[in-house]
Amino acid sequence: MGNDQARKPNNKRFTCRNGNKGKGSIESSSTPKIKKSDSGGQASNVPRNYFIRDADSPYKYSINVFGRQKYVIVRQNSAEDTWPGGALWDVGVLLANVFCAAKLSPIHSNRWTRMKVLELGAGVGLTGIVTGVLGAQQVLVTDLPVVVERITKPNVELNGEHYRSVVKRAESLRVKAQTLRWGNTEDEQQAILYFAGAFPDLIIAGDVSYQHKPGAPSHFDDLVQTVLNLSNQETIFVFGHRVRMEASNDLLTDFQRYFDYVEDPIPAHLIDPSFSSVGKHNITIHIMKRSAKAFATKQSLEEN
Ligand SMILES: C[S@@+](CC[C@H](N)C(=O)[O-])C[C@H]1O[C@@H](n2cnc3c(N)ncnc32)[C@H](O)[C@@H]1O
Repeated sequence: MGNDQARKPNNKRFTCRNGNKGKGSIESSSTPKIKKSDSGGQASNVPRNYFIRDADSPYKYSINVFGRQKYVIVRQNSAEDTWPGGALWDVGVLLANVFCAAKLSPIHSNRWTRMKVLELGAGVGLTGIVTGVLGAQQVLVTDLPVVVERITKPNVELNGEHYRSVVKRAESLRVKAQTLRWGNTEDEQQAILYFAGAFPDLIIAGDVSYQHKPGAPSHFDDLVQTVLNLSNQETIFVFGHRVRMEASNDLLTDFQRYFDYVEDPIPAHLIDPSFSSVGKHNITIHIMKRSAKAFATKQSLEEN
């Protein structure tokens, strides 16, 4: 178990830099979500973020992998039909930073080539694509169908082309975008098929502790069930939790029923120092594994 002192980032092997960071000042979570665009007065969405303030510009993320500079570029789109999946959220960047930082990452740098990675609610796909650049064996970035078609898949293709053009070795980025609706067992089966029948070694979910649309039923139970269906006791589950509303913590509590911590939760300001100036940032990264008790209960329920 780490502590604040032990967790000071020290990126010996991987270093990452956030492209748009510093573009605007840190803002509070009470920033309005909707603004009128300058042209035509049509409403466009603005993310409630601390350092990514604009959901229409491409975002460039740079990674130094064993001394070689690599980039991930994700395009964003603030359109209503893909919102909030069309935007990159602070949690997505912080999760990528965790995987890039030797002292924070649950995955040792030389283990990436053995990792099968599944990202749930990937949106623009930054975190999952970064794990691909770090060397993951297979990465599946997933979301709702409309988000995958218009946002996630084009970003995976963009980075695949970019990777081929800059990486001299005949190596491709092993990242795929696919629909996975939480609670949908057919989509879950398709994910397992992608990993040739195996469970992923790493599941990532970031900034998903919210109600999708006002008045819509909570998706928390579906999400927990999907994570349970797609994991075993070896799977590392990395959950980027942002408390967006009172009910957000219910999701964390649910996960804590089935998963044990393998590391202490990491608050945002230990990942990115600029979060220190945000009074109450409400973002914490949780690194967990299925608890033996919860796993045994599920097995026996399935057998009966
Ligand atoms: C706030 S965004 C976070 C995106 C990304 N993880 C990040 O941090 O930038 C939440 C994501 O969850 C996805 N999502 C919401 N409900 C979903 C569901 N039932 N099944 C699959 N994805 C869902 C949304 O489409 C969106 O991409």
